[in-house]
Amino acid sequence: MKRFLLMVPFLVVGASVEAQSVGELLFKKNCVSCHGVTGQGDGPLSARLGTAPADLTQIAARRDGVWPMLEVMSILDGYLKASNPREDMPIFEGFLDDNMVEFDTGNGLPTLVPIKLVEIANYLESLQDPRPTRYVP
Ligand code: HEC
Repeated sequence: MKRFLLMVPFLVVGASVEAQSVGELLFKKNCVSCHGVTGQGDGPLSARLGTAPADLTQIAARRDGVWPMLEVMSILDGYLKASNPREDMPIFEGFLDDNMVEFDTGNGLPTLVPIKLVEIANYLESLQDPRPTRYVP
């Protein structure tokens, strides 16, 4: 009986870890220090930054309801750093590894994109409140 009780916490923790997507795990590991657990910009480091971390539940709302998948991925991988610099928002080169997935960047041709970028962008999409009304690649 005692042994069974000791196992219960492990089972509960195991179940909740399994329920998390790759994107959610990447978010928790890399983003909550600034953007907060819920993504609303209230992470523990936020007060120390010169620029307030964006509320990541409002990415679509700030763009009239459009979910900008490529733009989000390009903010993270630094592609947009030169044309649209963001103060105090780091680039995540660690997401660019050899694990690729096909993604239609808008021209109808599947292009290989790092899977971690797609996963984390999909997780951010799930945080949008209200839900996006339109999608661009
Ligand atoms: C060191 C703090 C910090 C960390 C860590 C961080 N961010 Fe940010 N992020 C910011 C700040 C500050 C801004 C606002 C920049 C601006 O407005 O110029 C921002 C802006 C953004 C934006 C732009 C929002 C928009 O609507 O244009 C996105 C998307 C974003 N962050 C996603 C992420 C994700 C995903 C992670 C984790 C992989 C992350 N950030 C980690 C500080 C951080």
